[in-house]
Amino acid sequence: MCLITPRAVRRCFKSRYHCKRDLFIVCFMILIVILSLSVDLEQLYSFIQNHQSSLSLLLFSSFNTPIANRLLILVRTSHHCESRLKYLLKTWIPPLKRNQQKSNIFLLTDQYIKNSSYDKFENVILTDCPQKHKIFDLCCKTADEFQLYHNLTKNGAKFDWMCRFDDDQYVNLDNLYSYLTKLNSSIPYYIGRTSKYSIKIPDNNQTVHFATYGAGVCYSKVLLSKLQNYINKSITPDDCIKTRFADDAYLGYTIAYKLNTSLTINKQLHSHLERLQISFHRLTLENLLEAITFGFSWDRYQLKWMPVIHEIIQLSRKHQKDQDSLMLLWNFVRDYEKTHPENITGKVDDSCTSYHKEKNVSVANMPNKAILLTTKHIKI
Ligand SMILES: *[C@@H]1O[C@H](CO)[C@@H](O)[C@H](O)[C@H]1NC(C)=O
Ligand SMILES: *[C@@H]1O[C@H](CO)[C@@H](O)[C@H](O)[C@H]1NC(C)=O
Ligand SMILES: *[C@@H]1O[C@H](CO)[C@@H](O)[C@H](O)[C@H]1NC(C)=O
Ligand SMILES: *[C@@H]1O[C@H](CO)[C@@H](O)[C@H](O)[C@H]1NC(C)=O
Ligand SMILES: *[C@@H]1O[C@H](CO)[C@@H](O)[C@H](O)[C@H]1NC(C)=O
Ligand SMILES: *[C@@H]1O[C@H](CO)[C@@H](O)[C@H](O)[C@H]1NC(C)=O
Ligand SMILES: *[C@@H]1O[C@H](CO)[C@@H](O)[C@H](O)[C@H]1NC(C)=O
Ligand SMILES: *[C@@H]1O[C@H](CO)[C@@H](O)[C@H](O)[C@H]1NC(C)=O
Repeated sequence: MCLITPRAVRRCFKSRYHCKRDLFIVCFMILIVILSLSVDLEQLYSFIQNHQSSLSLLLFSSFNTPIANRLLILVRTSHHCESRLKYLLKTWIPPLKRNQQKSNIFLLTDQYIKNSSYDKFENVILTDCPQKHKIFDLCCKTADEFQLYHNLTKNGAKFDWMCRFDDDQYVNLDNLYSYLTKLNSSIPYYIGRTSKYSIKIPDNNQTVHFATYGAGVCYSKVLLSKLQNYINKSITPDDCIKTRFADDAYLGYTIAYKLNTSLTINKQLHSHLERLQISFHRLTLENLLEAITFGFSWDRYQLKWMPVIHEIIQLSRKHQKDQDSLMLLWNFVRDYEKTHPENITGKVDDSCTSYHKEKNVSVANMPNKAILLTTKHIKI
C-alpha cells in the first residue's frame, strides 16, 4: 500500500473518488522519486511487484475507467420500500449527487416521498404504473426501465450498457466496470445469474434459462436497440399476464425466442434467492471480493448487514497485504447468522411496508437445497 497523506485520509472519508485520485498521485510521486534517485532496476522491479495490486486497483478503478460514463445504472424501488434506500446511500451509491450523476445512477420508483432518502438521489424517475396486478406492475416498471434508456439515448446520451438492480442489492461498481470493460457492447449481450427455474417457450416447447432480476441484469446497447421493438409499456404488461411470465422471465423469453440471444451467465452476480445463510457460508474472502452483486434478504442477512460487508470490501483495498486478518473477519461475519440463529417465527419483513410475509422455519431446520418460488419465478 502506498503512503497516505493526512489530507488524503481526510478526503477519503469524504469521497472515495478523491481517495483514489489522491492515492494515485501519492503513488505516482513515489515512483517519480524512486526513478529520480536512479535506484537500480531490480529495486524498482521489486517496488512494482510489492505494490502491483494497489497500483492496478488504482489504474483500473472507476476513477479513470471510461466505462463508468458509458453505463446506465438503474435501481428499481417502490415507495413502500423507502427504508431500504439509506443502506444503498451508505454503501455503493455515492452519497454526493454529482458522483451519482457521473455514474449515471437512476432510481425508478412509483411515488416520491418528500423529506426522505429520495432527496439524496440526483435522478429519481416516477414510473406511473397502475397497481393492477403484481405481474402487470412489475412488467410495467420494466418497460419504463427500457423507455428511460431510450429516452436518454434519444437526448444524446451515449450508453454502451444498461444494468438494472433491485433496491435490496449491493453492487461492487469497480468489479462491474472491470467485467463490462472486457466485453464488446456491439455484440448482443444478456448477462445475469440464471434463475433456478427455466422457462418453456410456448410456441416451440424450447426450454431456456433467464436471468433472475434479483441478481442484477446487464444488457449491451445492440441488444437494447433490438429490444426496443418488443418491450414497451403499451404491450409488455398485458403480454406478461397473457403468457404468465413475470418481468425477468418475460425478458428471457423475448430475448431467447424473438432475438435468438442466449443468456451469458455470470456467477459473480448473487441474488437473495440463493439464501444467504447457506450461500454466504460457501463464500471465501476471495469470492466476496470478486463478487459484482449481493442480494440481501429480510429474514437472513438483512440490509443492515450491507454496510458491514461494504466495509470489509473497502478494508481489503486499503490493506492488501493483510488478507489473513480480513479472512478471519469475513469468516466471522459470514458464519454469524448460522452461529447466532435468531428466532424469526412470526416476524415480518419490515423493510417494505407492503410486505407481511411470515417466516416459519428456523435456521436449524432450513432445508439445504431450498428453492424459493416467488411470483418472479413461475414455472409453466
Ligand atoms: C420537510 O422538511 C422541511 C424542513 O426540514 C419542512 O419545512 C417541511 O414541512 C417538511 N415537509 C414535509 C412534507 O414533511
Ligand atoms: C420517455 O419519454 C416520453 C416522451 O417524452 C415520456 O412520455 C415518458 O414518460 C418518458 N419515460 C421515461 C421512463 O423516462
Ligand atoms: C465488436 O463487435 C463488432 C460487431 O461484431 C465488430 O464489428 C467490432 O470489430 C468489435 N470490436 C472489437 C474491438 O472487437
Ligand atoms: C409442446 O409439447 C406439448 C406436450 O408435450 C405438445 O402437445 C405440443 O404439440 C408441443 N408444441 C410444439 C409447438 O411442439
Ligand atoms: C410496442 O411493441 C409492440 C411489439 O411488441 C408493437 O407492436 C407496438 O407498436 C409497440 N408500441 C409502441 C407504442 O411502441
Ligand atoms: C440462432 O442463433 C444460433 C447461434 O447463435 C444459430 O445457429 C441459429 O441459426 C439462430 N437461429 C435463428 C432462427 O436465427
Ligand atoms: C420462537 O418464537 C415464537 C413466537 O415468538 C415462540 O412461540 C417459540 O417458542 C420460539 N422458538 C424458540 C426456539 O425459541
Ligand atoms: C407455520 O408453521 C406451523 C407449524 O409448523 C404450520 O402449522 C403453519 O401452517 C405454518 N404457517 C405458514 C404460514 O406457513
